[in-house]
Amino acid sequence: APDIAVSAVQADLTQLQSIATANGGNRAHGRPGYKASVDWIKSKLDAAGYTTRVQTFTSNGATGYNLVADWPGGDTDNVLMAGGHLDSVTAGPGINDNGSGSATLLEVALSVARSGYQPTKHLRFAWWGAEELGLVGSTRYVNSLTTTERAKIDAYLNFDMTGSPNPGYFVYSSSGEPTGSAAIEATLNDYYAGIGIDTDPITVGGRSDHAAFSAAGIPTGGTFSGAEGIKTSTQAAKWGGTAGRAYDPCYHRSCDTTSNINATALDRNADAVAHAVWTLSQ
Ligand code: PHE
Ligand code: CA
Ligand code: ZN
Ligand code: ZN
Ligand code: ZN
Repeated sequence: APDIAVSAVQADLTQLQSIATANGGNRAHGRPGYKASVDWIKSKLDAAGYTTRVQTFTSNGATGYNLVADWPGGDTDNVLMAGGHLDSVTAGPGINDNGSGSATLLEVALSVARSGYQPTKHLRFAWWGAEELGLVGSTRYVNSLTTTERAKIDAYLNFDMTGSPNPGYFVYSSSGEPTGSAAIEATLNDYYAGIGIDTDPITVGGRSDHAAFSAAGIPTGGTFSGAEGIKTSTQAAKWGGTAGRAYDPCYHRSCDTTSNINATALDRNADAVAHAVWTLSQ
């Protein structure tokens, strides 16, 4: 898989920060900063040759938007999906949660286009709305699919918080998640083993959008750099950073800005996503 330039992911985060700043400081469901985020990502994907669709829904009295982008080609009976939520909480701009996963997915999608990659499987990327209101967008998407369409999705990869300032290197546990996939977990761990990092398995459960896919019986996986949890001394010894401190002290706060990103974690996760998308689509 190509190396993802962390500078490109960081530039996208700067753009998402600008969108929040211009729209009352957040990119939350029902607020103008959310729709502006969707429009901006959609324009980049359209220019790169993706077939994009905006799925609308209503939640809490406001219109929500999912952005779904298909890379033309591949076997549409065997779809590999990768996604993450694009909405922030109202408290802040949501740059680590989840500008990080959103920007990473965008750069991996653009790198597919730039390299002219023609995978065996069909590739579909998604940016979910209203995750912060309870996985609303991803659930609406999965529920909108027919049984036949659902059965064509071989796997769903989820990325929610990938640049935490005191990072952990977590891979979704294939045994802990309801539809966890040993193949996906091994693929992500292979990338990390290649750069000498010993990850920890994590059970995210109902805390992010892969849960909607799990509920439909679709195999899932992902990476995560940590939220309000506290880094242990064992983890600090193998990953660096500060033991006894949250992975992301600005989780769901106004300080979740472009300053709240560890560039090394952001880069490693972006390269891990690319590795998984390439490996699992052929
Ligand atoms: N989904 C959580 C949020 O958006 C973040 C999270 C991701 C927590 C993965 C735990 C595991 O607030
Ligand atoms: Ca890189
Ligand atoms: Zn959140
Ligand atoms: Zn999140
Ligand atoms: Zn690779």
